[in-house]
Amino acid sequence: MKKKIVAVALVLSTSLWAAGSYNTADRIKDMQTMAKAMQDIQNGFFYNNFDIIKEGANRLADAVERIQPPLEEEEEKDVMTRYVNNKVQMTNGIKKQINQKIKTLLERFEAGDAKQAIQAYTKITKECMSCHTQLRKW
Ligand code: HEC
Repeated sequence: MKKKIVAVALVLSTSLWAAGSYNTADRIKDMQTMAKAMQDIQNGFFYNNFDIIKEGANRLADAVERIQPPLEEEEEKDVMTRYVNNKVQMTNGIKKQINQKIKTLLERFEAGDAKQAIQAYTKITKECMSCHTQLRKW
């Protein structure tokens, strides 16, 4: 009986740890992946190659999905600091925006409307920069 409880506790703590183990190094890696994906998408525009664009867009969407405030910030004990920072909420808002723009970009390019696709691309860049300027202290 006792063994079972210990086992359950172990499983619980491991899964909690896994869920909250995203750290600053992980985030920097995802940032670099996103920067590379953005470059690839841009090349796709220049070479008029939808496959390159799709590949870049997929990798961008993938990395954006992983972005979150690192563990150290999630564990902020002070409720007021957490509220003022409001990083989780902001991050989720920007992620949603980026995901929507990725969809628009692909749809527009596929429909032969490169101009609108590039506009969506520019808006993604703006979302990246919006987080960078607001969270410089991260
Ligand atoms: C939710 C906030 C947020 C969003 C959105 C975001 N970034 Fe970042 N980015 C950061 C933070 C914070 C850093 C500083 C490094 C760190 O602590 O993770 C950073 C750093 C970087 C770096 C430097 C990485 C290095 O090697 O030091 C690059 C490149 C980058 N971001 C690209 C992007 C691109 C491209 C996008 C949009 C597709 C983007 N970022 C969107 C928060 C964000």
